[in-house]
Amino acid sequence: NPNRMWGGRYALGPAEIMEKINASIDFDRRLYAQDIAGSMAHADMLVAQGILTAKDGRAIKRGLAQIRAEIESGKFRFSTKLEDIHFNVEARLTDLIGPAGGRLHTARSRNDQVALDVRLWVRDTIDRLENMLRDLQSALIDRAEEYAATIMPGFTHLQTAQPITFGHHLLAYVEMVGRDRGRLRDCRARMNVSPLGAAALAGSPHPIDPRKTAKALGFDGPMANSLDAVSDRDYVVEFLGAASLAAVHLSRLAEEIVIWCSAPFRFIALSDAFTTGSSIMPQKRNPDAAELIRGKVGRIVGAFVALCTIMKGLPLTYGKDMQEDKEPLFDAADALELCIGAMTGMIRDLKANPERMRAVASADYSVATDLADWLVREIGLPFRQAHHVTGVLVGKAAAKGIDLDKLSLDEMQAVEPRITAAVYGVLTVEASVAARKSIGGTAPANVARAVKEARRRFLGP
Ligand code: ARG
Repeated sequence: NPNRMWGGRYALGPAEIMEKINASIDFDRRLYAQDIAGSMAHADMLVAQGILTAKDGRAIKRGLAQIRAEIESGKFRFSTKLEDIHFNVEARLTDLIGPAGGRLHTARSRNDQVALDVRLWVRDTIDRLENMLRDLQSALIDRAEEYAATIMPGFTHLQTAQPITFGHHLLAYVEMVGRDRGRLRDCRARMNVSPLGAAALAGSPHPIDPRKTAKALGFDGPMANSLDAVSDRDYVVEFLGAASLAAVHLSRLAEEIVIWCSAPFRFIALSDAFTTGSSIMPQKRNPDAAELIRGKVGRIVGAFVALCTIMKGLPLTYGKDMQEDKEPLFDAADALELCIGAMTGMIRDLKANPERMRAVASADYSVATDLADWLVREIGLPFRQAHHVTGVLVGKAAAKGIDLDKLSLDEMQAVEPRITAAVYGVLTVEASVAARKSIGGTAPANVARAVKEARRRFLGP
């Protein structure tokens, strides 16, 4: 029979183009380990329930173990004619062990099987990515400790706003990555239920025990509704949502690295290991990894949009449309894994240029707010009025092309007679950052403490 999969009803094989659009083996072979683990748990359950003999169960597990070894050693011959990973494994199993191989699919459909495989794959991927994000946090925290007192300009609108510390800036990303990890964990907790037992869509007439397979595969339990079990891809969408936001965060940091590396900024430098040269301009050191992280967010967010679009019009339950979940999922996970790894490498690699950062932080009247705050604190001006007085003083200094602390006391008192020489004490970038000791503020003392806290909160005891 030309059709090994559903030969009973079919006399003829599929059109070539039908085979081509239908086959998923080129990408879903990636699920082989999950598929085989699921089949082993299913076989054990069938034996325990008396649906399969112990002898058949043993033959099936032996065959599956051999198939896994064949795949891992590159000896397995995948066939497009056999459509997907499920049929490829099952066909080989029957070749290996005979008719017992055909009993494995009792009380199961590819619908609950694929739902299981993808779930297991997403769960493994979440664990791996969360671990990598933890490593990224560890790198950021180490560098934050090193640069706890390194002054740089803080920006709003990419305009110099107030002096901050580089360590504080890096710790902001530690918080963002911490939320990304939390979102992945939330997704994992919600998705950790087993679809096995739903079979095609309605459940099974065999005396199966889905609690057994769920437990064996590390799930909290079986899914409550068989229709939901085979048609739910929420976990893929949630994972891609969490991945998108993580990628957005990495992209923002990547953009900052690109800016900081640029000649007009020169805040940081990356080593040879994380830059590339130009084929024509000998002087170039381009931060390609940062640019690629910024670029790859497109395919990750694209995958999220693709999944939402695939699912939005699907009636219950399974539709072949859902086969389209895998390529975007795999691609996005691969891209995110690369991005996290490359970002961790860059963070460990980068070298700050504290002189340059401090010089830029001191320019453009970055301590103007400190002057206004002094007027509020020391002579009791309402903040609005202090803002106005400071604005006039900044205008005076700017007209003369000098910094605020280069205005003489006479010049200041001409604007506000109650100003004293003590004001000069707050007009340095060091005083500015040191004063910002409020909760979550940028003071070096805070950063040193925040580093310890972050290690405890995110890296464990
Ligand atoms: N390759 C399919 C997928 O990825 C497996 C499930 C097919 N089920 C079916 N009834 N055609 O979705």
